[in-house]
Amino acid sequence: MTRYHTPVMLDPCVEALQPAPGRIFLDGTIGGGGHAEALLERTGPDGKLIGLDVDDEALAAAAERLARFGERVRLVQANFSEMRTVCENLSGVDGVLLDLGVSSRQFDAAERGFSFQQDGPLDMRMDRRLERTAADILREASYEELMRIFRVYGEEPASKRLAAAIVQSREKQPITRTRQLAELIERVKGRGRRNLHPATLVFQALRIVVNDELAQLNCGLEAALDVCKPGGRVAVIAFHSLEDRIVKDFMRRKSAECVCPPGLPVCRCGQRRQLRLVSRKPIWPAADEVARNPRARSARLRVAEKL
Ligand SMILES: C[S@@+](CC[C@H](N)C(=O)[O-])C[C@H]1O[C@@H](n2cnc3c(N)ncnc32)[C@H](O)[C@@H]1O
Repeated sequence: MTRYHTPVMLDPCVEALQPAPGRIFLDGTIGGGGHAEALLERTGPDGKLIGLDVDDEALAAAAERLARFGERVRLVQANFSEMRTVCENLSGVDGVLLDLGVSSRQFDAAERGFSFQQDGPLDMRMDRRLERTAADILREASYEELMRIFRVYGEEPASKRLAAAIVQSREKQPITRTRQLAELIERVKGRGRRNLHPATLVFQALRIVVNDELAQLNCGLEAALDVCKPGGRVAVIAFHSLEDRIVKDFMRRKSAECVCPPGLPVCRCGQRRQLRLVSRKPIWPAADEVARNPRARSARLRVAEKL
C-alpha cells in the first residue's frame, strides 16, 4: 500500500516542539498522523495528543496509525480555527503544530480534485461538509471576482486573460473537471516554465478560496497562542509565500513590545510581548529530505514560544 503522507521536516518539528514524558500537544492538521506519532513516541507513558483535521478520511487514517497509543490520543473533526473549543476542559497544551495545506493522499486522489495532473471533478474541499466546490466558484463568480481570486490568492500574472477565457468558455460548457481547466489555462498561457506548470497558481488560488485557508490560518494562529501554556511552542510549516507571510507577520507582531507607528511620543497600542521567536529566519528542509521527498521543497518552518 502506498504511504498516506510522508511527514515533512519531521526532525526539525520534533526538536522545535520539545516533546518529553507527560507533555500534551495539539496537532491541528493531523493528516496521516506522521508528526503526531513521533510526538506520542516521545511523550510516553502518559503524554497526550489532540489531533484535529477537517477531513474525515484523514482522521480515519490517523486513528489507524495511532491506535497503539490508546487513550493518549483524542481525534476530533474540526477546523484548527476552532481549537479553543476543543481544548476547553484543559489547562493548556505544551505545543501546537500546524502543517498547512493538503496531504499527499488528498493531492493524489483524483476524485478530490486538487491536482491538474490527473482528471477528476473540480472539488478541492478538504472538508467535505463544505457546500461550495471549485466548480461552483468557476460557475458562479463574475469576471471581476475570478480575476481578483487569481491575482490575490494565486499571484497569477495572467489573471485578466484567464478570467476572461473562463467566462467565455463556461457560456458554451460548464467547467467541472481538473484536466478541462488545466487545458484551458495551457491554451491561454502556453506551456510555461519547466518547473512551474501553467495551472499551478490558479489551482492554488481556487483551493485557498474553497477552504477559506488564509482566514482560517489567521484565526488558528490566535487560537494556538491562547491554548498554549507559558513556555509552550507554536510550530507552523507553510508551503507558499501567502501562508508564510501570515505566519511571519503574526509571530513578529506578537513578539514585539509595541506596534505603534514609529515616531509616536508615547505608546498607544498597549501591546505586550506574548511570544519569543525561537529562530528569526524560517527553517528550510535539508537537501537530502528534498531529494527523498520533492514535496518538501517549498516547506518552511517557523517556531515561537509563548511567554
Ligand atoms: C500536510 S497535511 C498534514 C500531514 C501530517 N502532519 C502528517 O504527518 O501526516 C495537512 C492536513 O491538514 C488538514 N487541514 C488543512 N487545513 C486545515 C484546517 N484549517 N483545520 C483542520 N485541518 C486542516 C488537511 O485536511 C490535511 O489532512
